[in-house]
Amino acid sequence: MESKVKELVEEVGGVSISNPDQAEQFRLKYLSKKGILADLFEEFKTLAPEQRKVVGKQLNELKQMAEKKFADAKETNSAQNGSSSEKNIDLSLPSESIELGSKHPISLVRASIVDIFTKIGFTISEGPEIEDDWHNFGALNFPEDHPARDMQDTFFVESDSADKWLLRTHTSSVQVRVMKNQKPPIRTISPGRVYRNETISARAHCQFHQVEGLYVDEGVSFADLKQTLYYFVQEMFGEKIKIRFRPSFFPFTEPSAEMDISCIICGGVGCPVCKQSGWVEILGCGMVHPNVLENCGIDSKKYTGYAFGMGIERIAMLRFQIKDLRLFFENDMRFLSQFKSVL
Ligand code: DAH
Repeated sequence: MESKVKELVEEVGGVSISNPDQAEQFRLKYLSKKGILADLFEEFKTLAPEQRKVVGKQLNELKQMAEKKFADAKETNSAQNGSSSEKNIDLSLPSESIELGSKHPISLVRASIVDIFTKIGFTISEGPEIEDDWHNFGALNFPEDHPARDMQDTFFVESDSADKWLLRTHTSSVQVRVMKNQKPPIRTISPGRVYRNETISARAHCQFHQVEGLYVDEGVSFADLKQTLYYFVQEMFGEKIKIRFRPSFFPFTEPSAEMDISCIICGGVGCPVCKQSGWVEILGCGMVHPNVLENCGIDSKKYTGYAFGMGIERIAMLRFQIKDLRLFFENDMRFLSQFKSVL
């Protein structure tokens, strides 16, 4: 065995490796589990103890030599590769441009509404899009026979249970959930998607987004509501914008109002957007009806509250002067990519 090892020392010493293929061949032949060295180590075990001393030393030297040869070959190979690919780099070329995406205009406007209200202490609440009749209508003081419960407006969800399930028609349902679960003072906004069974047109869609606002505490008044909404409008549309309130009706507020802002296109002198009136409607609001407070377990003698609700699409259309609501849902890149650097 001694002479076998000596021969191999010479053989390995004479091998020249000049590329990765040859290095791999070398590894397989000498160093792998089924290679020559592994066999020799097996054979070594069978030797008599006095022979082992001599052969063991030689065998180890052979092994170290083979391993070094392989490691050196690998190093020179990778150094060569590095330098050859570095040679191919043209440092004078302009770099590849990185395509930046953009947020959807509805997300942008939603984020900016959230910003405006969180700055003055409103929290954010969310609720389910599939609601039961009580949260969407009953608790909000809608009489049993109110037309808004008709199939025309509401998408009902088929279910085997006795409860009526539906896709929420407004985010006012979240008010109910918040008031049931929290004690006043409550100051929260609830942005989210809502659904109505409407014919799709430039001004209406079967799905859209709303933000509901709610403030309940001792001594909350209509003056607080007006001031908060005035602040919102100035932050959203600018300081020159005026507001006005018109009496209205919602089952869940008393008194109720709709709020208009002076037309941001013509500044109030009259144009097609404001139908020559100088004003555009942006939201509904009012003082939370005592029945609603009581339905949610809040003492209406001790507490009062205001609420408001607005459509995000409507705010976005005014803000960006978009004339067709359907554009928000079509995912046309020519439209969406125009909002890269706004807000
Ligand atoms: N929920 C109403 C709607 O969808 C909007 C609304 C009006 C919300 C008045 C309110 C409110 O909180 O006080 O048309």
